[in-house]
Amino acid sequence: MKILVTGGAGFIGSNFIRYYLKNHPDDQIINLDKLTYAGNLENLKEVEKNTNYKFVKGDICDFDLVNTLVKEVDTIINFAAETHVDRSIMGSEDFVKTNVEGTRVLLDAAKNNGLKRFHHISTDEVFGSLGQKDAPFNENTPYDPRSPYSAAKAASDHLVRAYFHTFSLPITISNCSNNYGPYQFPEKLIPVFVTNLIEGKKVPVYGDGLNVRDWIFVDDHNRGVDLILHKGKIGETYCLGGKSEKTNLEITNFILNEFGKGEEMIEYVKDRAGHDRRYAINFSKIKKELGWEPQVKFEDGLKQTIEWYKNNQAWWKKIKSGEYKDYYQKQYGPR
Ligand code: NAD
Ligand code: DAU
Repeated sequence: MKILVTGGAGFIGSNFIRYYLKNHPDDQIINLDKLTYAGNLENLKEVEKNTNYKFVKGDICDFDLVNTLVKEVDTIINFAAETHVDRSIMGSEDFVKTNVEGTRVLLDAAKNNGLKRFHHISTDEVFGSLGQKDAPFNENTPYDPRSPYSAAKAASDHLVRAYFHTFSLPITISNCSNNYGPYQFPEKLIPVFVTNLIEGKKVPVYGDGLNVRDWIFVDDHNRGVDLILHKGKIGETYCLGGKSEKTNLEITNFILNEFGKGEEMIEYVKDRAGHDRRYAINFSKIKKELGWEPQVKFEDGLKQTIEWYKNNQAWWKKIKSGEYKDYYQKQYGPR
């Protein structure tokens, strides 16, 4: 396969590229990434000299560039997106541009050039928010996005399905739950908390800390994407989840415990606007059809992730002292 991976310099995309090249050494990847605040070529040092890997800096909204690159590949995997809910609340323009218009550009380029596959990376957030006793989301759950981020992701999913129905574009979609692991940008829950504790700072818990997410180790997600790419049915959607529902406070206490710290390090801060209460995924379709299920136990994956942040302080310290610092202070006040 010759694959155009978009957003491959971000968290999940860079983990995907490393994973994929290791498992498919004869395939080729072009990584198209705009290198926004979230994109970082240091995530890809391991593969930058691999002759089957090429990086191109550019925007998925740039049709001419995308249309040229698409001629060199047979497959697109679209990871590129604006991804942080809090940022989408501060301003939604980039979210609509990249997540909606960017996906439209990729779809048109794929359609014009007769690609064999367009795989779109989506999220469980498009399904909305669950009550404590509701059944987990599955592929038939109606869309009900509630943040500018999830609304823009939902719009992109609709476009992808529309190109399948209208133009027979060979698409697949995966809707995954919350990922964690190495190279996650320190604005998301787990890396914020772990890096704050390494720095001796408190951890900011939103609201009452009882919101629930279904956590999946990033390699489990990417193994699922790989399987869908090779064995998934055209036109289908697959939900991927971690079999690991946790409240934010459960995660906080686990991390605090790993650092030998207690509740004195928690700072309860103002809740996120429109904060979704619970996400959870029923992944029985992909389990039954493709034999996929998550393999990494949450506690093991989280310990491994904490170790990674302890051993790679130069990576995140550079980020935390740059542009991100202004954003963080706007969110939580001066530190
Ligand atoms: P991330 O924010 O770490 O990385 C996004 C990447 O996209 C960055 O490298 C950035 O530079 C690039 N990018 C942004 N706009 C671009 C543009 N216009 N053109 C080209 N590149 C652009 O994100 P992530 O957490 O790795 O998420 C990747 C994908 O997975 C997203 O589509 C996200 O919606 C989806 N997803 C994420 C999670 C999660 O828990 N992080 C869960 C389910 C689905
Ligand atoms: O569910 C998949 C989604 O998971 C992806 O589509 C998104 O791209 C990804 O960002 C993530 O969204 P969340 O909003 O669930 O993740 P985040 O890490 O921002 O927050 C997780 C939970 O922790 C949420 O309930 C808010 C809370 N939180 C978050 C931060 C950053 C805190 O309490 N304190 C924090 O500092």
